[in-house]
Amino acid sequence: MKSIVCTKLGEPSLLEIKDLSKPTISDEEVLIKVQAAGVNFPDALLVQGKYQIVLDPPFTPGNEVCGTIEDKGKNVDLPVGSKVIGLPPVGGFAEYVSLNKNLVIPVNDDFDSLAGASLPINYGTSYYALKRRANAKKGETLLVLGASGGIGTASIQLAKVMGLKTICAVGSDKKESYVNSLGADEVIRYDQEDLKETAKTLTDGKGVDIVMDPVGGEASEQALRATGFNGRHLVIGFANGSIPKISLNLTLVKGVSIVGVWWGRWTNTYPNETAEDFVELISYVNENKLDIVPKNVYSLQDTSLALENFLKRKNIGKTVIKF
Ligand SMILES: NC(=O)c1ccc[n+]([C@@H]2O[C@H](COP(=O)([O-])OP(=O)(O)OC[C@H]3O[C@@H](n4cnc5c(N)ncnc54)[C@H](OP(=O)(O)O)[C@@H]3O)[C@@H](O)[C@H]2O)c1
Repeated sequence: MKSIVCTKLGEPSLLEIKDLSKPTISDEEVLIKVQAAGVNFPDALLVQGKYQIVLDPPFTPGNEVCGTIEDKGKNVDLPVGSKVIGLPPVGGFAEYVSLNKNLVIPVNDDFDSLAGASLPINYGTSYYALKRRANAKKGETLLVLGASGGIGTASIQLAKVMGLKTICAVGSDKKESYVNSLGADEVIRYDQEDLKETAKTLTDGKGVDIVMDPVGGEASEQALRATGFNGRHLVIGFANGSIPKISLNLTLVKGVSIVGVWWGRWTNTYPNETAEDFVELISYVNENKLDIVPKNVYSLQDTSLALENFLKRKNIGKTVIKF
């Protein structure tokens, strides 16, 4: 089977495509024939050895796939041929993946594979952050930093499902058009406008209720300063490359909370609650409340190009590899 392999930590261009033998399965595992694999910012960090988890090469990146069950162990109930979303710890950028049955989520056979491969990380993280870490309430205002990115796109769409008003911060004309196409309520060009002042003006001086922050750097403090009383600042990641240091007195004088979000750790610790969230997310798709359409579809051969776009700040929307 064809597989992307990181043989040496470094730039995504070092990734190789190799012919490997199909993985074998244990009694508790399924073999998935991958139809699509989601690509994420952490993949670009992982292959460089810059992610919070550092792996020794050789390894195949990729943590979210959608495909059909090709084979199964004797203790697995799911039928061969059925469609599933899979959450491999590694190995998703390959034609076949073996996975423990607990890391597989069944979906209808007509569930779109590109949507399935897009759902776990971006939509899972954003939903967990809004629902469980911010306790978002209908009618609240959400400021999304890096709003045209993977996390940003999922946050805008989920905010609509949850009845939140969105203020979307983006850094280019193309990104502005994209978030408008997703139905952003307001847009801030934080490459041109003062983030804090504009967000305050857009909320009539009250400040935003929630900040979704996958960006870090200087924008984080500006966004925190733009929150109103009882605000929640969700710390998702540092795409900007710099980890801000915030004076804690800000949280006191404004009565706001800075809330860390690590979806991967939560899914390992709370599998039942994770499963509940997946049931809800999948039902939003099935009921046409959530339309997940990846903007960038690559072939396996072009995986390194896909990863480079994240590092060059060029990524817009969700990225997947189609097999
Ligand atoms: N905590 C968790 O559980 C969790 C889960 C998934 C992802 N993450 C993290 O979330 C972060 C964002 O992921 P994503 O998939 O949304 O990435 P993405 O699609 O690349 O979006 C990130 C956004 O950040 C902004 N940005 C600002 N400075 C940047 C820079 N120097 N380089 C790249 N982007 C920059 C860009 O928007 P503008 O150009 O408009 O500013 C970009 O659209 C990553 O750090 C990732 O590791 C965390």
